[in-house]
This record gives sequence, structure tokens and C-alpha cells, in this order.
Amino acid sequence: MARQERIDVLVGEHAQRLSERLQAHREQLFPPDASKELRKFTSGEVADLLGVKDAYLRKLHLDGRGPSPETRAGGRRYYSLQDVQDLRQLLEKGTKTPGTYLPGRREGDHLQVITVINFKGGSGKTTTAAHLAQKLALDGYRVLAVDLDPQASFSALHGFQPEFDLIDGGTLYDAIRYDDPVPIRDVIRKSYFPNLDIIPGNLDLMEFEHDTPRALAERSAQFFFTRVGDKLAEVRDDYDVVVMDCPPQLGFLTMSALSAATAVLVTVHPQMLDVMSMCQFLLMTSNLLGVVAEAGGNMSHDWLRYVVTRYEPGDGPQNQMVSFMRSMFGDHVLNHPVLKSTAISDAGITKQTLYEVERGQFTRSTYERAMESLNAVNGEIEGLIQAAWGRKGAS
Ligand SMILES: Nc1ncnc2c1ncn2[C@@H]1O[C@H](COP(=O)(O)OP(=O)(O)OP(=O)(O)O)[C@@H](O)[C@H]1O
Ligand SMILES: [Mg+2]
Repeated sequence: MARQERIDVLVGEHAQRLSERLQAHREQLFPPDASKELRKFTSGEVADLLGVKDAYLRKLHLDGRGPSPETRAGGRRYYSLQDVQDLRQLLEKGTKTPGTYLPGRREGDHLQVITVINFKGGSGKTTTAAHLAQKLALDGYRVLAVDLDPQASFSALHGFQPEFDLIDGGTLYDAIRYDDPVPIRDVIRKSYFPNLDIIPGNLDLMEFEHDTPRALAERSAQFFFTRVGDKLAEVRDDYDVVVMDCPPQLGFLTMSALSAATAVLVTVHPQMLDVMSMCQFLLMTSNLLGVVAEAGGNMSHDWLRYVVTRYEPGDGPQNQMVSFMRSMFGDHVLNHPVLKSTAISDAGITKQTLYEVERGQFTRSTYERAMESLNAVNGEIEGLIQAAWGRKGAS
């Protein structure tokens, strides 16, 4: 008889070996006490972010108004993101059109909660959520990003090392658990982006999947689907937009996130298998959310959009898939796709988004094409955010 292996033991050994190697690798790249920092932005980049001319920024500086940039070789001026934020405040004071430089919520506007979902692994959820959250922060919105994935890729991308930083908890699970939940403020952390706070994730989040059936059996009145939304309500006034990166599964956590959401972004890689899998996902979502809605859950949203990810314009079958989706879902598919780009994947290897890396590290055209596509997608989403507040003409 062939030798049999105890997979519980074997997998445990493999996990141990892998964990040690990964830890060594990480310590080499990122010492445990290393924290991420955001680079400074060139005056040209800042001018683009603010929608003003570089010459105008120079004039402000020469007039001694607003923050002083750091001047480097060749007279190039660099601003921190905090400087950009200070410039926004200054410019907003001088404008007759409110919201030109500070585009966030005004009196009566609701907090927007965008969930990024699809149960197809690798469809670009985390990449999309991270670039969206960071771009909104760069544009002057107050953003809270929530990592709902036990795999915690979003957190890792933002410099959190779940094994080191979250030993005593600190994920959303602590705030939504059924026994002794903590206030949500206890699990919110500042990031190296002045306008971006993060609730990191780790394996603890899986506990919610185990606890919920038990809580439902014990306390029939317990509505699991309100738990995320109820917690977000505690910090409703502190943010303009919440971005939630969901795990590739449709568990209780994702359902509770969808219940808390005001908007839904479904990431789709335009390939047959991915689209077939999405079909299953949509069917399941519809069934499960139908049940939640019947139980009194809120399923009204400002918008739902599909965003095409890792798109290769020269690929015939992908183009057919995109046309197919557009013919079925019409305006629900964003006009711009996220292009597949080595600039995006290479930035990811060093735990950065394209907004964090310096342009000089990449071939100019590669960087610019990727940046253009991300900005176009994020610009469309910003338009939807502004429209949900009853405004038009997002910057
Ligand atoms: N536009 C892109 N261009 C190149 N690579 C990309 C792009 N978008 C995502 N990737 C790469 O594809 C992989 C999967 O992306 P991502 O982690 O965003 O997917 P996901 O849907 O969050 O996955 P999971 O379901 O495991 O959470 C990552 O390695 C990422 O760097
Ligand atoms: Mg992910």
C-alpha cells in the first residue's frame, strides 16, 4: 500500500517552514520597527493634484503664503502630502466655489461606504481598493480604509505586518465581535497618508464566520448584517469616504459589509473563466442579500459598478469579454478599465501603489499609461461620489 501522509501534520510543518522563511525575508526587506513613509511630491505633481499651475504655486511660495516646499538640486520644489493639504485649506479660503480644493462632505452629505467585492481571487480587489483609497486621500477626501480580508494584503501594502503589529488583535473583528466588542476608534490607525486611516486585517476576521452561526442560534434577534454598519456609524462624522477591501468569498463578513455599503464596486478580469465565476457570484449574492433584505437589512445603494481590471487592450478575447459585459450591464460597467501594467505589479512587489513610487523608477511611458488608466478609473468613481452628494463636475 502506498505510504499515507497525515495532511494535518504535513500542512502544519509546511506552514511552519514557510512562515520562518517569510519572516526572515521580511526582516531583511522591512525590519520589524520600520514604518512606511510617504515620499514628497514634485511641484508639478502637486499642481496637478490641486488643479492649478506650477507657476502659481511658485508665486504663493515667493509671497510667503502657505507651506514652504523643500528645494532640492536644480531648484526643484517638493511638498509633503501634509503641505498639499495645507495648500488646499489656503486655496479653498480664497475661492468663491466651495469644494474646489476640499471636495469632501458638506452639511447634510452622507458618509459614503464603498465595498470592493468579487469572490474570484486575484480579480484586482485589493489593488483597486488601495489605489482608490490613496487617490481619494491625495485629492483631499478624509478616507477610512478597512481590510476585511483575513489574508490582509491591503494591510501589508500599507506597511502593517499582521504577525508583528497585530499580535493582540486590532482588526475590525474586535469591534464587531458578539462578546465584548471594542469601540471602532480602538482599531483605527493613522497611516503615512495624512488623510488616510486604516483598520488592518488578519486571520482574526475569520472568527466572525464561526461566531455568527452560533450567535444566530443563541440569540435569534441578533442581526449579524448590521454589525459593520453600526460600528462605522460611531465615526460617521470623521470621514468622507470609507473603502472596504473584501475577501474573495461571500461570508457573513462580506454580507455585513455589503449591508453597510452605500456603493459597490465589482472588480472583473475580462476572461471567460473569471466572468463565469462572477456569474455564480452574482447569483449567490442576489440570493443571500435577498434573504438579508427580507430580514430588514438595508440593500439600497447609491451605485453599483463593474470595473475591468488587468486589461490588455491588444488581447482579442479580452476585448470580446469587455464588449459582452458592456452589452449586458450597460452603464454599470465603468468606461475606463485598469490596464495591466508592470508598473502596478512591480510597485506591488515593494509594497507600494503607483501613487507611492517615484516616476523615475519606471520607463516613463509605462508609468504614464498606468497612471492615466488608474486616474481615469478613480476619476469616474469620484464623479459617482460627488453625484451621490447631489453635485456634478468632479475635479
Ligand atoms: N492592473 C494590474 N496590472 C498588473 N498587475 C496587477 C494589476 N492589478 C492587480 N495586479 C496583480 O495581480 C495580483 C492580484 O491582484 P489583487 O491582490 O489586487 O487581487 P485581489 O482580487 O485582491 O485578490 P484576492 O482575491 O486574493 O484578495 C497581484 O499580484 C497584483 O499585483
Ligand atoms: Mg485582495
